[in-house]
Amino acid sequence: MLHTRNQERDEVRLGDIVLRNRLVTSSSLLGYGVANAPLVPYGMSPVSLFVPLSEFGAVTTRTLTVEPREGHFSTRDDYRLTELPGLLRRYGRVLRGVDGGWINAFGWCNVGIDAYLRDYHPRTRDQRTIISLGGFSAAEFVTLVDRVNAAVPAGEIAAVEFNVSCHNVNFDFSTILQDVLDEAVPRSNHPVILKLSPDYDYLRNARQAARAGVSALTAINTVKALRLDPRTGEPFLSNRYGGLSGRAIKPIGLRVVSELRESGVTLPIIATGGIRTVADCREYFWAGADAVSLGSAVWLASYPGYALAPLRALHVRRVLRAVRRLSPQPRVSVPSH
Ligand SMILES: Cc1cc2nc3c(=O)[nH]c(=O)nc-3n(C[C@H](O)[C@H](O)[C@H](O)COP(=O)(O)O)c2cc1C
Repeated sequence: MLHTRNQERDEVRLGDIVLRNRLVTSSSLLGYGVANAPLVPYGMSPVSLFVPLSEFGAVTTRTLTVEPREGHFSTRDDYRLTELPGLLRRYGRVLRGVDGGWINAFGWCNVGIDAYLRDYHPRTRDQRTIISLGGFSAAEFVTLVDRVNAAVPAGEIAAVEFNVSCHNVNFDFSTILQDVLDEAVPRSNHPVILKLSPDYDYLRNARQAARAGVSALTAINTVKALRLDPRTGEPFLSNRYGGLSGRAIKPIGLRVVSELRESGVTLPIIATGGIRTVADCREYFWAGADAVSLGSAVWLASYPGYALAPLRALHVRRVLRAVRRLSPQPRVSVPSH
């Protein structure tokens, strides 16, 4: 692992998961942690051009599936300028700014686990990585875990994260969760994180995870959402439903983290949901989180807003510095009735 003395000093352990510090990035927002295109880092925030990704506690990849998936967008990141108008049109049907956040329905578009492990992962060795895995059966999760085990020595990444909580692939993950936990968790050479949805029975899912030997929880994935064009009634997103992220979901994320603690869940929690400032991080720590994660805040902006990437990067660096200095806070006890 290539990292500096400072990073070693800041290192934190969540059970058997080693992070460089308590601020990580959420699945997908920084793509695969490295881009193939020199100019337009599709799937990689322009912010990433100004903040070395090795500074984060870990970078969580886009969710990877056994086979490549176009989803509702595209797996490519090598666009020509002439393709840009068509691309932006399609982009507008998978990602929309809404009040206080974003709804997206990319639908797990990704290059597939083999291409990731061959073409991207070897170029991310100076970062700490969490590899996000997604599938529609226990067998697919087992295959994904086996592929990661074969390509990545134990200790080289922070963890694998099981995404069984996404709304824009139109699948009821509660039907496979127990089998996934029973069959895929024990096979993994890497610590396993389970990513929870606020729309499922997350307290039950967290208890299932603890019983199955999962190392930590990520809370929360996006919240199932819908926006319609008020003139025509047509959904804004091509998938009709999407996942809501950003500031709007912060109170929901805080509720979920706090309820997990109230219900006696002791697994480490990585909180994600509307986090942008140091105060947001502190709130999540008070609620019971052990680490915090930047999602929409490291990538999403209006098109003109992307021009402000260097300023946003400065802000992200400030948050990183401050979170490194924060020691974990005692959890606030919950009033009894
Ligand atoms: C554009 C976009 C794509 C996302 N893709 C994934 C994904 O592939 N896998 C996943 O587990 N979560 C995905 N998420 C959810 C984020 O990782 C994060 O859990 C969620 O956005 C809440 O954090 P935030 O409010 O800070 O954005 C995605 C979110 C956004 C906005």
